[in-house]
Order: sequence, then structure tokens, then C-alpha cells
Amino acid sequence: MQKFTLITLAAAVALLSACSDRVRDTHPQQLVSKRQAIFKKFTKTLEPMGLVARDRQDYVKASFVASAEALQELASQPWQYFSADGNYPPTRAKPEVWSQPGDFKLAQDKFLAATDALVQVAGSADLPAINASVEAVQASCKSCHNKFRSETAGG
Ligand code: HEC
Repeated sequence: MQKFTLITLAAAVALLSACSDRVRDTHPQQLVSKRQAIFKKFTKTLEPMGLVARDRQDYVKASFVASAEALQELASQPWQYFSADGNYPPTRAKPEVWSQPGDFKLAQDKFLAATDALVQVAGSADLPAINASVEAVQASCKSCHNKFRSETAGG
């Protein structure tokens, strides 16, 4: 039993050090880390609204409106960190972010418009309209990712 514990510990330590070998964001301004942290908040903020849209959670007006407004607030934040000097490991952004800035901007605008539309209907209790708006936001996340985000870091 004790031996087993030791082996497990050794494996855990090996795993931990493997993680710390991963590429770190050494950029002084931490551009990649900053935008990735905001994208993580996108997911966290969208999640409860996705549950409502898929009928897995009841619609509660106040909390739904708060989530929609929180997403709208976040929606404009990551893009400033995709500056010209912001393409370095461990980014998952494709080179197209920098080589096709016009298209990247269009994808942002589409997403911002979808988020605004969601805020417009968020307090309406009109579930079909709300669900359609959540789906439109999700579709705009996905279509940008298809074009501008790779599956793996460095890919
Ligand atoms: C206009 C393009 C665009 C839109 C819209 C967009 N994303 Fe992203 N997203 C990206 C890019 C590019 C990256 C890769 C960033 C990097 O690694 O430098 C990314 C990364 C992410 C990540 C990974 C963060 C990490 O820690 O590596 C998550 C999660 C994510 N996006 C969620 C979302 C969600 C949810 C939405 C919609 C609510 C969304 N994104 C909308 C372009 C977009």
C-alpha cells in the first residue's frame, strides 16, 4: 500500500513537471495570457445562458439579463491584445488573425452585434427569441474560431 502511494506520488510529480515544461507567456505585456483569460470568461458567462437555451435551466429574468450584460461588457475586451507584437507562443491564434485583419475585424463585429441583440431580448421572457439569440452568439464564437483559432497551441 505504501509502495503504491509512493509510485502514485512519483507519477504525480512527473506529471507536474511535464506541465511546467509547457511554453509560458514570457512577453512583458502578457498579451496572450490576457486575451486567453478574457476568452475563458466568455465561456463561463455564456454557459448559464446556453443551459437556458437548451431548456436545462429555468429562465430567471434578473440573472439572465445580468449574464447577457456581463457578456456584452466582456465582448469588446480581447481584441486590443491581438496587437502586431502579439503573435507568439503559446497562442492558439492562427496567422490569419494578423494576415487578414479586415476579416478578423468583421468576425468581431458580427459577434458584438450578436451580443447586443442578446441583451435586447434578454429581459423579454420571450424564450424562442432568447434561444435564437443565444444560438446566434454561439454561432459567431464558432465561426470566428473555425477561421482564426487552431485546435492546438502552435498549430
Ligand atoms: C473574432 C474572433 C473570435 C470570437 C468572436 C470569439 N473568439 Fe474565442 N478565440 C479567438 C481566438 C483567435 C482565440 C485564440 C487566442 C490565443 O490563444 O491567442 C480564442 C480563444 C478562445 C478560448 C481559449 C482560451 C485559452 O485559454 O486558450 C476560449 C475558451 C474561447 N475563445 C471562447 C470563446 C467564446 C465562448 C466566444 C463567444 C462567446 C468566443 N470565444 C468568441 C477568436 C474569437
